[in-house]
Amino acid sequence: MTIGRDERIAAIAAETRLRDIVADRFGEAGSTLAELTALSDRRLHEMVSAQETDEISGDNYTDQQLAMLPPLAILGSLGSGNPLQHAMPRTGETVVDLGCGCGADLVLAAQAVGPSGSVLGIDVAVEMSNLSRTVAGFARAKNIRVLHSDFSHVDLPDCFADVVISNNAINLAVNVGDVVREAFRLLKPDGRAVFCEIIAGIELPKSIATDQLAFIGSIAGDLSPLEWQQALYGAGFRDVDLVVDKIYDFHEAIAPVCSMEAMHKAGKKRKELEEQFAGATIMARKPA
Ligand SMILES: C[S@@+](CC[C@H](N)C(=O)[O-])C[C@H]1O[C@@H](n2cnc3c(N)ncnc32)[C@H](O)[C@@H]1O
Repeated sequence: MTIGRDERIAAIAAETRLRDIVADRFGEAGSTLAELTALSDRRLHEMVSAQETDEISGDNYTDQQLAMLPPLAILGSLGSGNPLQHAMPRTGETVVDLGCGCGADLVLAAQAVGPSGSVLGIDVAVEMSNLSRTVAGFARAKNIRVLHSDFSHVDLPDCFADVVISNNAINLAVNVGDVVREAFRLLKPDGRAVFCEIIAGIELPKSIATDQLAFIGSIAGDLSPLEWQQALYGAGFRDVDLVVDKIYDFHEAIAPVCSMEAMHKAGKKRKELEEQFAGATIMARKPA
């Protein structure tokens, strides 16, 4: 029997509670990363060189992009893709990043739009918002602002942005429809949305689909390609496209973010999950 996303979320926690759990969890990650600001630049570069690549967040950026990023942004990168490679912001444009985390995509967007453009990051975790401001300072990017807010309801005017990006954050929303409608509202006519997210090609076993750790790991809140299309076309977007950027090894990338209990309960169904998870980029355009 299919378990819809709303049902999965209801089984994990009440909606408002789940939003708080997500904010707390990423707040803790932000606090841990903030401790690194006490280290020297040289030590941070050494840590980047020694960093073990994790399958979801490693290898997303080109060498040219990595060279533009402060080491803290690389160490704190928790994305699943490279939205800017698809969004290609132009000089003078305004970019909004939903769930900006510690700000790698903010810095890259700021470089792309230049001083005449602007970049606005939004994050629900106070510590992550503060960290991305610190990272923007390290990058000397004066055209970055960060708002501490839930990305489902952002205190910004309609038609604010040319581009709305998100990197491994919308799967964490309690209501994806609200976020997609908010992205549509924020975009100018002919504006583009580019979201990198984890998708699964198979329905998840119930124990994983309703596992809180798997939700925080951006797995249990996934949408199928059809659900992405429905959400985006339903909000008014056009030209919806989804490209698979990389297929994940289940044991390397997915199993570690699920609880032991969920994995155990999934039993034999775990075998069916091999090669079923991917990092995808979902793109859409607001009608002109
Ligand atoms: C997996 S991290 C990815 C961060 C960043 N995009 C990156 O590429 O490193 C997800 C981020 O989304 C934020 N987030 C989750 N739910 C959110 C919400 N409802 N509103 C705003 N931000 C949210 C989290 O606090 C976290 O910083």
